[in-house]
Amino acid sequence: MSKKIILSGIQATGKLTLGNYLGAIDNWVKMQEEYECYYMIANLHSLTVRNDPETLRNNTLKIIAIYVAAGLDPEKNNIFIQSQVKEHAELGWILNCYTYMGELSRMTQFKDKSLKHADNINAGLFTYPVLMAADILLYQANLVPVGADQMQHLEIARDIAERFNKIYGKTFVIPEGYITKTSGRIMGLQDPTSKMSKSATNLNDVIFLEDEPEVILKKFKKAVTDSENIVKFDPENKPGVSNLMQIYGSVTSKTMEEVEKEFEGSGYGNFKTKVAEAVVEKLEPIQKKYKELLNNPEYLEKIYKKGADNARKLASKTLDTVKEKIGIII
Ligand code: TYM
Repeated sequence: MSKKIILSGIQATGKLTLGNYLGAIDNWVKMQEEYECYYMIANLHSLTVRNDPETLRNNTLKIIAIYVAAGLDPEKNNIFIQSQVKEHAELGWILNCYTYMGELSRMTQFKDKSLKHADNINAGLFTYPVLMAADILLYQANLVPVGADQMQHLEIARDIAERFNKIYGKTFVIPEGYITKTSGRIMGLQDPTSKMSKSATNLNDVIFLEDEPEVILKKFKKAVTDSENIVKFDPENKPGVSNLMQIYGSVTSKTMEEVEKEFEGSGYGNFKTKVAEAVVEKLEPIQKKYKELLNNPEYLEKIYKKGADNARKLASKTLDTVKEKIGIII
């Protein structure tokens, strides 16, 4: 029996965070044996905000290096750059014509980003979820492992696929989301009521994957908790402590009950240090490998070229089927 297919990706904007790692990449690593995997760098999605061209190019390569350093075996996974498989933009356009303004207007990410970039609310920002739907549907992906913030986009991808299938007969596989309970939504360290984000203005709110161990330790020590001094999982009333517990649980593969037990009677000072140490222990080997890979751009190029060649095979097959069904001469 052929393996089920996974597709996921990360935008090439900004520096990757511990949220990106725990919510997405770390899960992908665990799934690589069981599935046929396509992991892309969403550099077309990055264009919805203004980028310095050189930075965008560098970020794209950095993310490929992070994928591999984190444990994605380039022999087993198809790692590629979205723009190098032209089918994404093409299917994106077609699907635009099967997506309604009303449903796009409801996207919370669009609303958030419009507020943040009030001077640049471009059409790409609005149709962003359609391109994401194209990314997923081109590969007939069964599963899309993402963080909780992407769930709404996944829902719209499912809706578009169902709509298309209804009109033209079964064309697309309807994808399922895969979000883990403990790491699906890693929150900010200073504001544990909103998600840890690349674009945070307070740098103490976010752990970047490139942060040095001392910086990581310092940021965790400053993390907002509460006055109870009890390590107990209660996201509603103790968001700061619960978030630290989820981070700790994710990097050590422990349940919340195990974490509670481990830190029974321990104050927050010791707890925060232990969380920081566990994160450093997890990230240090990745950082070391990442630096080595960045010094080997030829190897990175081989990976993404091969990834795009493989991706194109599947993507072009789906696109041809779509074109045939809607009456576009191939
Ligand atoms: P992006 O680049 O914002 O984030 C990449 C992945 O990291 C997850 N994530 C988090 N998970 C847990 N806690 C957090 N604080 C956190 N912050 C980010 C995101 O949920 C995501 O899984 N639109 C996508 C990229 C994309 C894509 C796709 C994803 C483009 N096409 C097709 C899946 C399938 C995005 O902007 O993710």
